[in-house]
Amino acid sequence: MAAFKELVFSGVQPTGNLHLGNYLGAIKRFVEMQARDAQCLYCVVDMHAITLWQDPEALRGQIREVTAAFLAAGIDPKKSIVFNQSQVPQHAELAWIFNCVARLGWLNRMTQFKDKAGKDRENASIGLYDYPVLMAADILAYRATHVPVGEDQKQHLELTRDIAQKFNTDFGDSIRAHGHGDGFFPLTEPLIGGPAARVMSLRDGSKKMSKSDPSDNSRINLTDDSDLIAQKVRKAKTDPDALPSETEGLKGRPEADNLVGIFAALSETTREAVLQQYGGAQFSAFKGALVDLAVEKLAPINAEMKRLSADPAHIDAVLADGAERAEAIAAPTLDAVKDIVGFVRRGPRLSAVG
Ligand code: TYM
Repeated sequence: MAAFKELVFSGVQPTGNLHLGNYLGAIKRFVEMQARDAQCLYCVVDMHAITLWQDPEALRGQIREVTAAFLAAGIDPKKSIVFNQSQVPQHAELAWIFNCVARLGWLNRMTQFKDKAGKDRENASIGLYDYPVLMAADILAYRATHVPVGEDQKQHLELTRDIAQKFNTDFGDSIRAHGHGDGFFPLTEPLIGGPAARVMSLRDGSKKMSKSDPSDNSRINLTDDSDLIAQKVRKAKTDPDALPSETEGLKGRPEADNLVGIFAALSETTREAVLQQYGGAQFSAFKGALVDLAVEKLAPINAEMKRLSADPAHIDAVLADGAERAEAIAAPTLDAVKDIVGFVRRGPRLSAVG
């Protein structure tokens, strides 16, 4: 691997209904990260997806669809490493070791598990509970320094840092004895930000835009055509007042705040700049401008996703190539981890990990 200053890792679940929140909060930012002096790895996290039941045939299609969305949005699979998680066995291997580092009390605090398990917690899969540990393994198998995500992943990234820190402390002597200095895993930096770190439902400004919302009108899907995008934006819930001219005036107006945030993210500017232009405008006018902007930005992605989806063999080849390159980074990490932990393993010691 060429020596990059940063290693960026992020993942998206292939659970269907990829939406504007996934795009603005994550995928669009993945594309921007490619301009940095960084090796970027973008992973379709299929093992995370099965923590909730997935129909096998549908899952295969969804893995290819997320891959198509990555490529259509501008991720270059030659520059970045694009792959699906299950093709790189080191994720699951490291997750097991981390299961023995992470504490029950830490996982008990995870709010996403509580949300997803709902009232019937006894019936949730163990995988759903263990989800954040696998996520830490995803990131740390590559010793990633930066992880761009939406705001909902903040707690999981804090857990990743806790696991890295505890591993570094628990195995400190062994880490030093194996020549890795004072810490083996980095304390990964979450990159959460921009005007769309938390895109809200178009029907209810107090709820996150989500793949699992039963109302399709609550989200703009990346597969929606221009007419549907226009329809959903026009139907989006608003309040009766005109737009304020300063962000202060968005307080207590979650739906207005959300639409202004979406506009800012799509046009790569800030809420302040949007309000300078549209302060005083009625929602009917603002929504018209938002429809034009959303269609201008999303229609080409939609068209390219369709084009790519017609050739699943090409997508599978991208994933296979990415998996090979990902494994070339993760395998030496796992070899080093096994030595640090005290496992006996076959094969010569790989010395690629410094
Ligand atoms: P997932 O598939 O739920 O979401 C993918 C990315 O989209 C972001 N996101 C949003 N951003 C803004 N507004 C929203 N309404 C919104 N909804 C989703 C998410 O924050 C995420 O960045 N656990 C991760 C997948 C994962 C991962 C990882 C991420 C697995 N391993 C390692 C980073 C690093 C998830 O559930 O993504």
